[in-house]
Amino acid sequence: MPGDLLDLGVMARPRSFYADLSPDTAVVAAGRPDWDQGEPVNPPVLFNSTFISRGVPGETEASYARYDNPSNHPAEQVIGLLEASQGDGVLFASGMAAIDAAFSLVPPGGRLIVPSHAYNGTLALARQLAAQGRLRLSTLPIDQTDAVVAALAGGDGCAPTAMLWIESPTNPLLEIADGPALVEAAHAVGAIVAVDNTIATPLGQRPLDWGADLVVHSASKYLGGHSDLILGAVVAASADHDTALRDFRRVRGATPSAFDGFLLLRGLRTLALRNARSNASAAILARRLEAHPAVDRAIHPSLTSHPGHAIAKAQMTGFGGIISIELAGGAAAAEALAAQTKAWAPATSLGGVESMLERRRRWPGEFAEVPESLVRLSVGIENVDDLWEDLAQALARP
Ligand SMILES: Cc1ncc(COP(=O)(O)O)c(C=O)c1O
Repeated sequence: MPGDLLDLGVMARPRSFYADLSPDTAVVAAGRPDWDQGEPVNPPVLFNSTFISRGVPGETEASYARYDNPSNHPAEQVIGLLEASQGDGVLFASGMAAIDAAFSLVPPGGRLIVPSHAYNGTLALARQLAAQGRLRLSTLPIDQTDAVVAALAGGDGCAPTAMLWIESPTNPLLEIADGPALVEAAHAVGAIVAVDNTIATPLGQRPLDWGADLVVHSASKYLGGHSDLILGAVVAASADHDTALRDFRRVRGATPSAFDGFLLLRGLRTLALRNARSNASAAILARRLEAHPAVDRAIHPSLTSHPGHAIAKAQMTGFGGIISIELAGGAAAAEALAAQTKAWAPATSLGGVESMLERRRRWPGEFAEVPESLVRLSVGIENVDDLWEDLAQALARP
């Protein structure tokens, strides 16, 4: 019966069913249909732009896939559970679309603080909105807690801060923000706090536990995990923010397709395994790279030389799978490294099962504080000794 078919796609078990599971179990178990005899183990994917809907559509019915795509509910449920929110996540067509939606919660003319070294797309969008007069933008070093707290308290003389944007670790400098301290200071002046949790993943840190209001992801990275999709997500702590984000998505048309939602859910199932492997390998490789004569500086939160090591240890589970290195031989050595590996794909992006590396300043949009010689490495799930030998042979070449 048609109604039954729709139920399979829409009616995943309720959140409460999974509430007592630990995150690495919930990521596998949640977002599934009820276990009635003969029902599928995985939620079906409904490739439909529209659904039969006579008269005035009800709140829970599917009607048109831009308004809400029922096939994406299971993945939204899993992400909401992992971030320990009361509600489900909201999927967007890209990480940037998710960031755009989060920025829409800054009231007109409100002040937005963004880390000076946030992901460059985040900064580009914030600058565009500021240039259009939509909001006032301040950029601050997010790892300098005192400076951010002082700026929050002082405002900019024109407008109080409406939103503090945290990214931790930052991409690609891997700076660590003191999440709980910044949330407390932001809330004390009435600002809402959004955290880009792309690099840590919800299994690596849970910003809503610090008291943050929004968590944002580029699901194109670790959540999907296979470098085969572009997606974003926002998880809101409050029902009001959740509703505002869904309204924004509907009118902007930033709703992802059912196929991308399917790929995301499939990728999510192995997040705990992928994270464990890439985090462990990254810590090993970071130590070896730090000791290598061709490397001036290795940056990874697991290293005791990292200025944010203690904070990362306190607020993260694992230190993430991204390493940045500065090469003694400058930009040319960095380009040569990227040209001479066979296990590390020379490509942009991060968080896939396959290891990747790139010299970040090859992008004209990357900011000047990122050294010309900096190579960002995204550690995948391959054999760690293969990864090391490949790097070592490439670093040894003239
Ligand atoms: C930390 C971070 N946030 C957001 C984004 C944007 O995500 P997307 O490429 O899915 O739009 C990226 C992309 O690289 C990122 O690294």
